[in-house]
Amino acid sequence: MLNKIKALKEEIEKSQAQTLEEVEQLRIKFLSKKGEISNLMNDFRTVPNELKKEVGKELNLLKSFAQETISNLKNSFEAADQGKTGIDLTLPGEAMKPGTRHPINLVKNEIIDIFTRLGFKVSEGPEIEDDWHVFSALNFPLEHPARDMQDTFFIEKDPDVLLRTHTSSVQVHEMEELTPPIRTVTPGRVFRNEAISARAHCIFHQIEALYIDENVSFADLKQTLTYFAKELFGEETQIRLRPSFFPFTEPSAEMDVSCTLCSGKGCNVCKGSGWLEILGCGMVDPNVLDSSGIDSKKYTGFALGMGIERITMLKYGIKDLRLFFENDVRFLRQFASAL
Ligand code: DAH
Repeated sequence: MLNKIKALKEEIEKSQAQTLEEVEQLRIKFLSKKGEISNLMNDFRTVPNELKKEVGKELNLLKSFAQETISNLKNSFEAADQGKTGIDLTLPGEAMKPGTRHPINLVKNEIIDIFTRLGFKVSEGPEIEDDWHVFSALNFPLEHPARDMQDTFFIEKDPDVLLRTHTSSVQVHEMEELTPPIRTVTPGRVFRNEAISARAHCIFHQIEALYIDENVSFADLKQTLTYFAKELFGEETQIRLRPSFFPFTEPSAEMDVSCTLCSGKGCNVCKGSGWLEILGCGMVDPNVLDSSGIDSKKYTGFALGMGIERITMLKYGIKDLRLFFENDVRFLRQFASAL
């Protein structure tokens, strides 16, 4: 019996396996219910009493030796497997935090949705432009201050290459490419050479709307603006139009909405006036239509443009415009529920 134990121990010692499968075969051979060690255990009954103590001890040692050897073999395979992929699949996972939409995008999408419900399509144009699309075709006189180096980022070597200062430039592209009826909204980034502060930035976002067809009138503009303001700020919102001037519209106006905070009673957001200035608008100047190849005798149209940052600040009560560009997640996460 003791000899058998010794022989089996040697056999186990020499055992090798190339695969996990082979390790399992070894386990079955030595350690399963019908395996070699169990057989020896069964034979234990026949051992003379005076030897039982010694043989029993050796048998137990053999069993633990077999268990240890097989479990080491098994572990070596698992460790090698893990090494191949470099991934420990047994480690607990790391929960991923879902991202949130940027508040500027939330408001931009909301504005686009309102205009698409009215049948407007979305279009975009280039951020790097020429003088024609940003100024000349929009009826800016040559000496207009907006062309000034103070305002516009020009390329030093070629003053005809510049960063657009407003999304109105896309109107020109649309009018050049399409024949009326044209109904389009244009979101995008714009650039102005301004000092960065809580109220101004050299990069910001605008959205522009353009509608051209036969018999488009100021009444159409006013109705569109009323619908837009109520959809964006709530049914109780009032609008007011003040006469203004833009080179590309005639007549031109600026639209105010009743203060979203105090509903027109007067507070520090509206500086006691009860009104908030939201956008510029007007009837497209006939010169602009003609410059872009649209017959101003046959067609009329309206245009409007607004800054998305300003509207977002009003909608969410944000006091510093720089927060939009810092990408501080503590600020951005507050808009998670607005998804
Ligand atoms: N482009 C103007 C700006 O940047 C905004 C604007 C005013 C756009 C009147 C328009 C408009 O389309 O009709 O301040």
